[in-house]
Amino acid sequence: MIYREFARTGFRCSAVGMGTYYDIRWIASARLLGRRPREDAIVRSIRTGLDSGLNLIDTAELYGSEPLVSKSLEGRDRESVFIATKVSPTHLRREKLIRACERSLRRLKTGYIDLYQLHFPAIRVPLSETMGAMEELVDRGMIRYIGISNFSFERMKEAEQALRKYPLTSTQMHYNMSYRKVEEQILPYCEKNGMALLPYYPVGHGRLASGGRQPPALAADLCRKYGLRSIAQLALTYLVSRSNCTFPIPRARTPEHVAENSGIDALLDPSDLDALASAYPER
Ligand SMILES: NC(=O)c1ccc[n+]([C@@H]2O[C@H](COP(=O)([O-])OP(=O)(O)OC[C@H]3O[C@@H](n4cnc5c(N)ncnc54)[C@H](OP(=O)(O)O)[C@@H]3O)[C@@H](O)[C@H]2O)c1
Repeated sequence: MIYREFARTGFRCSAVGMGTYYDIRWIASARLLGRRPREDAIVRSIRTGLDSGLNLIDTAELYGSEPLVSKSLEGRDRESVFIATKVSPTHLRREKLIRACERSLRRLKTGYIDLYQLHFPAIRVPLSETMGAMEELVDRGMIRYIGISNFSFERMKEAEQALRKYPLTSTQMHYNMSYRKVEEQILPYCEKNGMALLPYYPVGHGRLASGGRQPPALAADLCRKYGLRSIAQLALTYLVSRSNCTFPIPRARTPEHVAENSGIDALLDPSDLDALASAYPER
């Protein structure tokens, strides 16, 4: 696994992390009925990832998966893992945000969250109020770093300007080798400003993995050239190679897949990256 500093935090993160969004029915079951389908397999998957060197986990209050993150971490050194979670867009007023963070801390069974992200931009709440509350959480030691998700380039800059005391550490966006919109403005901006970018849907929600859409011939050629075991590994390697600031977070649900996703050791040459991007036209 390749390791790199997560933005300017000093924390060395695995370049590939683990995502814990399952699907809408899973969320409904977890949140409304308190039943989490495939709980044992999910916990086993996350532990497989941790044992294989993945030390970045992404969750969200919305996903209903925070309790499984804490269960997976039982008996482990908290300081060795970088936990990223997200506050829902309905909790962006100061009071609500602080209470949402307290609940996440309880579900995660931890004293602090490494990265607290705004899951989506607010529609009605001023960014100054939300970011002021985020900075208060840092001051209180409840979170270490502030991130965003699903913000356009313009809104990302507004979010950054709304912060008074601490930098914007990361953004999380839909990004994979067949959906590369962030390469236009957001990725270069992150690189220039020392921010991290967490690509979600890194294997196209499964479409780019084996069994998904027919890959171009070049994909198989590059797997052979770089000793990659699957198109899923190629998809993750594409993201990790494109920039030093990317941390893709493929979903952790199947131990075999997580083990495979933890085997990212090679970086693609720039010419191969460009050829791969051309072979996967934008969707
Ligand atoms: N910020 C946001 O708004 C947002 C939105 C969506 C997602 N996310 C985050 O991003 C994470 C990833 O997104 P996602 O789960 O939707 O998409 P994804 O990771 O691109 O795709 C998940 C699919 O790919 C399969 N897969 C993963 N690794 C594989 C491998 N090595 N070989 C074959 N198949 C493989 C999974 O199968 P198995 O399940 O069987 O392993 C699953 O069907 C989420 O878990 C969440 O943390 C954030």
